[in-house]
Amino acid sequence: MAKILVTGGAGYIGSHTCVELLNAGHEVIVLDNLCNSSSESLSRVEKLTQKSLTFVEGDIRDSQLLDQVFQQNSIDAVIHFAGLKAVGESQQIPLAYFDNNIAGSISLVQAMQRAQVFKLVFSSSATVYGENNPSPYQEDMPLNMPNNNYGYTKLVVEQMLEKAAIADERWSIALLRYFNPVGAHKSGQIGEDPQGIPNNLMPFVTQVAVGLREKLSIFGHDYDTADGTCERDFIHVVDLAKAHVLAIQNRLNHQGCRAWNIGTGQPISVLTLKDTFEKVNQIQIPFEFAARRAGDLASFYADNARAVKELGWTPEYGLEDMLADSWKWQKQNPKGYGS
Ligand code: NAD
Ligand code: UFG
Repeated sequence: MAKILVTGGAGYIGSHTCVELLNAGHEVIVLDNLCNSSSESLSRVEKLTQKSLTFVEGDIRDSQLLDQVFQQNSIDAVIHFAGLKAVGESQQIPLAYFDNNIAGSISLVQAMQRAQVFKLVFSSSATVYGENNPSPYQEDMPLNMPNNNYGYTKLVVEQMLEKAAIADERWSIALLRYFNPVGAHKSGQIGEDPQGIPNNLMPFVTQVAVGLREKLSIFGHDYDTADGTCERDFIHVVDLAKAHVLAIQNRLNHQGCRAWNIGTGQPISVLTLKDTFEKVNQIQIPFEFAARRAGDLASFYADNARAVKELGWTPEYGLEDMLADSWKWQKQNPKGYGS
C-alpha cells in the first residue's frame, strides 16, 4: 500500500479517484486550492469510504508549501489533476492557463525531484492527438498542436515530462489521456459540479433535466457522421478513477514515461447521448440544433488496447450507466455541492 499525494483531489475526477485509492487501501493526501471545487466533496469521499484522508488547502505553484507537504509525509507517488480545464476560457486568458497548468506542473515536478519522489500519474487528454489523426487514436501516433490553449498546455506538459524521464531514469511517469469523462459515483454523493453555465455536454444535459436550463443546444448537425452530430468516446468517471489506481500500481514497478488512452473505444453521437438519456431516465430534454461550435472535431475515440493489456484495465460501465449515474447525482444535488 502506498501514500499518494493527489493534486486537484477535490475536483470531479480527483474526488472519484480518492474513493478508489482509499478503497484499494492507499493513504491519500489531497492538495487543492479549491479554485474550481469544494472541500465538501472530500467530506463525502470520507463518508463513502469510511476512511479518512488528509486535506491541505493550497496551490501547486507554492514551492514552500510543496516542500513542507513532502517533508511531513513520506509520499510514494503523486497523481496530478490540478489545473484549469475550460477550453473557451483558455482562449481568453491564455497566460492564466500557462501559469496554472504549465508553471504549476513544473513547480510540482521540481518539488518531487527535491523530495526524491519519482512516481507520477498525469491527467492528460485526447486533445494531444490534434486534428489530423484518424480514430481510433493510438498512443504512438504523432501528436499534433491542439487548436486551443488548454490543449496546448497538456501537450507541453506531456513533452516536458517525457524529456525529464529521458534525462533522469529514476522517473516513472504515466500520461493518462482521458477521452470524455461523464457519470458519477453510484451513490449520487459525488459528481461533476461546474461553476456557472456548463461548457461540457453532460452537465448541460443534466441541468436541463433538473430545470436549471431551458433547453440543450446541439452544436452542429451537418458533420460527416452517421446522424450529423459530433461523436465522442464517453467514459464513466469511476472507470477512469480505477485506471489511476492501476497506473499507480504499474508505475511503482516500472521506469520511464508511458502514455495510455483511457476511453471505451465506442464513438457515441451527441444526439444518441441525448436520446439515451431520455430513455434511461424517463425524462424529456428539450433541444434545438444550433451552429457548429468553433474548434470541435467531428469524431474521435480511443483504441484502448494498450491500457487493457498493460494496466489490466477494462471499462465496466456502458452509456446507460453513465447517464443514469449523472442524473442521480444531479437530481440528489440540484445545485451541486452548494445544495
Ligand atoms: P476539476 O476542475 O473538477 O478539478 C481540478 C481541481 O484542481 C479542482 O479541484 C481545482 O480547485 C484544483 N486546482 C486547479 N488549479 C490548482 C492549483 N494551481 N493548485 C491546486 N489546486 C488547483 O477538473 P476535472 O474534470 O476533475 O479534471 C482533472 C484533470 O483532468 C485536469 O487536469 C483536467 O485538465 C484533466 N482532464 C479533464 C477532462 C474532463 O473532461 N473533465 C478531460 C481531459 C483531461
Ligand atoms: N455539445 C453540444 N452542446 C453543449 C455542449 C457540448 O452540442 O451544450 C457538443 C460539443 O459540440 C461536442 C460534444 O458535445 O460535439 C462534446 O463536447 P464537450 O464540451 O462535452 O467535450 P469536448 O469533446 O469538446 O471536450 C473534451 C474535454 C476537453 C478536451 C477535449 C478534447 O472536455 O478537456 O475533449 O480532447 F480538451
